[in-house]
This record gives sequence, structure tokens and C-alpha cells, in this order.
Amino acid sequence: MITNYDVFVPALMGSGASLRVGMKARALGCRKVLVVHDQGLKDVGIADIIIENIQAAGIETVVFGNVLADPPDILVEEVAELARNEKIDGIVAVGGGSSIDTAKGVNTLINNPPPILQYFGYRTDLKPGVPMIFIPTTSGTGSEVTNMAVISCTSRGNKDSVMGPHCLGTLALIDPDLTLGLPAKMTAATGIDALAHAVECMTGGQVNPLSDALAKEAIRDIVKWLPIAYKDGSNLEAREKMINASMFAGMAFSNALVHLGHSIGHSLGATFHIPHGLACALVLPEVIEYSAKSEWKNVAMICECFGEKVQEDATWEEIGALANKLLREFIKSVDIPNMKELGFDLEKVIAIAPMVTGDAGFAIAPYRITAAKVASMLQAAFDA
Ligand SMILES: [Fe+2]
Repeated sequence: MITNYDVFVPALMGSGASLRVGMKARALGCRKVLVVHDQGLKDVGIADIIIENIQAAGIETVVFGNVLADPPDILVEEVAELARNEKIDGIVAVGGGSSIDTAKGVNTLINNPPPILQYFGYRTDLKPGVPMIFIPTTSGTGSEVTNMAVISCTSRGNKDSVMGPHCLGTLALIDPDLTLGLPAKMTAATGIDALAHAVECMTGGQVNPLSDALAKEAIRDIVKWLPIAYKDGSNLEAREKMINASMFAGMAFSNALVHLGHSIGHSLGATFHIPHGLACALVLPEVIEYSAKSEWKNVAMICECFGEKVQEDATWEEIGALANKLLREFIKSVDIPNMKELGFDLEKVIAIAPMVTGDAGFAIAPYRITAAKVASMLQAAFDA
């Protein structure tokens, strides 16, 4: 198999890294940048610090501070129009995946006409946009180092991705200080999203040694440090390990992609309107157990990253069952509820199975299964 290693974004990492934003934007030649964030970051004071830092470097700012979760295409198109009218020459996105993905969507439309839905999928033929600096404030999406943006398609009622060089940041500023105030629930959900990126990219149809190396390191750190960051959000070491693990997992899945866990997550998210990280956690143990049939070596490696020794003569069923148990225990340890506890209706949950098999990530699953098998996994996870 020929593997094409792809996409790594230069990054500056460490406490205070975000305060280099103005200096770095100036070094990139920016004179007027679009700053993208959500209202929450304004409320906690982070947005203003970033904006003032950029302005102090002599750079004009145009601010869009109303990012929405799961960025809708219509909103992305509106912000892109603002960016074009203002003739911005750079974008700074500060926030979680929704802010960074909004910026990527806007960048796609800087020099390419709307609507954005015509650019879904991997494209290398689009006109390039402007330099982008990404400053994550959660430890989960990895969007700061990936070349994809997830956009909600209003007319089709689903989510899809724009992917390619136009979605790649010019620089990521990875500053754990910005995650110190992240509430415990969000810490847990975003941390499990990072874990899902790592374990799915180790078990999908595009596994490769580079992604495996990054993912294994991410899993070890998440297993050790997420429970600490969850219990004590002010622990800077835990926050630093988590934002680093999230970036590693992002680099890993940029190359090896994610599969069924995210397909189920997207479908549950679209149906029940729950956060991405939570949605991806709900059936993850069952997905990795199913993967063991063909990817038993890497599933055994995942177990070992959890500190569990796998017997040499273990069958794939035993390895899968062990991975399921370890993942389920870990997800419960950070108080992520199952679907029954969330109050979902079992029939509605099972009814999403055909939507899952239509999701783009389903094609990356390690081997083919029917919608009926997906339904059985949903049922097994329902009250697990
Ligand atoms: Fe994700």
C-alpha cells in the first residue's frame, strides 16, 4: 500500500503562545485581519485579549463574534461576504472547532464564489484564500491542525466537510492557558472527541504508521490526564498535556481519517442536537470492538495504551471485548452518560442506522457492515 502523508500545520505551543498572535500575523504580512470567535469567548474576556494583541501589532481588525455551533453554511457565506467587502488579508480564529471551522469555510469563499456546498469534499483546484492563524480554546477537535471543516448544510439538513489546502491553517498557537476555564462537562466531551479521533484513525481503512505513532501517544496522555483535567480544571500540566494530545490526535486523523464512531456521532448529533464530543462518545466502545475483527493488532495496541496487557493468544473477539470494556469504563469515569440516561428514545436511536451508512466516514470503516449491524451496535450502547 502506498501511503500519502499529508498536512501538518506549523505550531507554537506553550503557556502564553496565544499572545504571539499579533507579532505572528504581522510577520505573515497581514494588515487587516478577520477575527472569528463565539459569544462565550467574549464573555470570558479571551476574545478581547486576542483582538487587542493584534491591534497592538499595528494590524486592523474586523470582528465576527457570533459563531454558532456546527457552523451553518448560510452563516459562513454571510461572514465570507463581510470578509470580501472589508478586503481582509488574514484570518485569526479563536475558539473551539466551530470557530476554526467557520474560519476555514470563510477562507474557502474568499476567492471562490458561494454557495459553499458546491465545494464539499476534498478539493485541490480552488483558488487559495489568505493566511490563517488558529488558536484553539478546547482540547478536542484538533481542527487547528487538520485540513477539513465540518459545515452544516441547511438545505440538506446534514453536515458535510470542505477539505483541502484552503482549509489548512498557516500557524496554530497552542496555548493551554486558554483552556483553564473550560467547564468540566466540556472538558470531558471534547477530551473524548480527541480520544475518538485517535482510536478511530488507528482502526479505519487508512491506518498508517505515522498516524499510529501520533495516536498512541495521544491515547496514553488522554488516559492519564483527562480525568485530572476533568476533576481539576486549573491543573495547568493536565491542560497542557490535553491540548497537546488533542493536536497529536488531530494530526493523526488528518492522515488516517475517522470512521464509524464519527458517522454515528454525526447522525446522533443531527437527530438529537447534542455536542459533537458527546455524540462521538456514545457508541465508540462498540465501534472499536467491531473493528477488532480486522484490526485486532491495533485494537490490542489501544488496550495497551490504556495500560492493559493483552494475552498473546487472545482471539479478536476477546481483544474487541477488552477494548469495549476499557473504553466504556474510561468514558464513564468522566461522567459521560449513555443514551438511556440522556433520555433518548430507543426506537429513534435505532432509526438513525441508515443515516449512519450514508455518512462520508462510513466509507473509511475497516470492513463492510449492514445498517442492521449498525442498529445492533446502537442497541448495545443504548444503556451500556
Ligand atoms: Fe471529532
